[in-house]
Amino acid sequence: MDVFRIEGPVRLSGSITVNGSKNASLPIMAAAVLAPGKSLLKGAPQLSDISVFSQLLEDIGCKVTRESTGDIAIDSTAIGKPVGEYDIVRRMRAGICILGPLLVRCGKAEVSMPGGCAIGYRPVDIHLRGLRELGAQIRLENGYIVADATRGLRGSEIFLGGPFGSTVLGTANVLMAATLAKGTTVIESAACEPEIADLANCLNTMGAKITGIGSPRLTIEGVKELKPFAYEVIPDRIEAGTFMAAAAVTKGCLHIHNCRLGDLMAVVDKLRNIGVTVEPEKTGCIVACSGSVSPTDITTQPYPGFPTDLQAQFMVLLALAAGNSIVIEKIFPDRFMHVAELARMAANLRKEGSAVIISGVKKLIAAPVMASDLRASAALVLAALAAEGETIISRVYHIDRGYEKIEQRLNPVGAKIIRESD
Ligand code: EPU
Repeated sequence: MDVFRIEGPVRLSGSITVNGSKNASLPIMAAAVLAPGKSLLKGAPQLSDISVFSQLLEDIGCKVTRESTGDIAIDSTAIGKPVGEYDIVRRMRAGICILGPLLVRCGKAEVSMPGGCAIGYRPVDIHLRGLRELGAQIRLENGYIVADATRGLRGSEIFLGGPFGSTVLGTANVLMAATLAKGTTVIESAACEPEIADLANCLNTMGAKITGIGSPRLTIEGVKELKPFAYEVIPDRIEAGTFMAAAAVTKGCLHIHNCRLGDLMAVVDKLRNIGVTVEPEKTGCIVACSGSVSPTDITTQPYPGFPTDLQAQFMVLLALAAGNSIVIEKIFPDRFMHVAELARMAANLRKEGSAVIISGVKKLIAAPVMASDLRASAALVLAALAAEGETIISRVYHIDRGYEKIEQRLNPVGAKIIRESD
């Protein structure tokens, strides 16, 4: 298992480019199953989550190749077994979004129930409710979701809201299944995240008839068949937001390319409110910060609210603010694995249920810390860049799941990160 040795404090300065979106790429890769033939996903990042999803597709019978251009070709001409195996799905929860496409393509599907993960209990009841509304028969058997649609799926009016708002991958699953259902489906309380809009846009290039894209009400007129896609994925807004936080936490200045500010309005608004400059630029933005940020409150919400996937990174920023802040997590109430590790680096944090109260300190101090999940690990990297001394982060495979070669991209703008293999 690799570790990072990070020397701080540093001031980041220069240009950095955001990669294609991981969370948009994964459901789009699943969409390749809807249309027999060869689809091409352009701009997908080289990440372990993408490799695991490729394995899942290969395991069901697709041929997946990374072309020399970096594009991912998925040949879904033959689906051998409509089964998402436990050994693969347990490694990446997003594997669940193969369920809808397999079900309509093959008339039946068996996908392992994803387990819990470091960010808490993550049920799939809403996914199943939506697919049942389309006419699928679903039962649970030996840890697998066993779904049957041999009599075909039919359009329906479906409410997809849950106790924590909409569901991103649940919307992806039901949306993909509905494209090939008979008749019209209306999804109410659909996730509005840009990754879902990107999936819907890709599905429309395949011949689907989806309207209301980007809104909480999606209308899908079922079609008889779809054709393979050649589609370029959107930039990763969470990676962009992480780089913004990195610029601010190191009191630096980063020119961030391939960044759609429109996908990050809540984040940009928060940064500006606490004293960070965000200037729009032709290909993205310039983010700069010269002193301590002001304290604030952050509540995570479904899009267009502040994203849960940036909660940990912004907590680092607030740990160094001039005063007391509060972060309330409304999507995954237990997503606070980074709190104890940041406290080891001299951050002053107190967890109260699904909130964390943060008393800003003047400096963070390096310590050995452990990465626990993807975004918590990104937060530890940011903390290490700002902290005094050498921080050693173990289990960095978590960060490799979502940030491609992060050290090779941050070092040219002033970071001092060394990757060591155990
Ligand atoms: N929920 C239910 N029932 C369901 C589905 C979800 O109660 O059937 C709850 C969840 O437990 C959670 C809330 O609804 O409290 C939202 O979960 P959602 O289904 O939207 O999450 P997801 O689709 O499983 C995606 C991203 C996550 C991101 C969340 C929220 C991918 C591959 N994953 O997960 O990304 O945090 O949406 O925006 O798109 C990450 O990239 O680090 C990551 C965890």
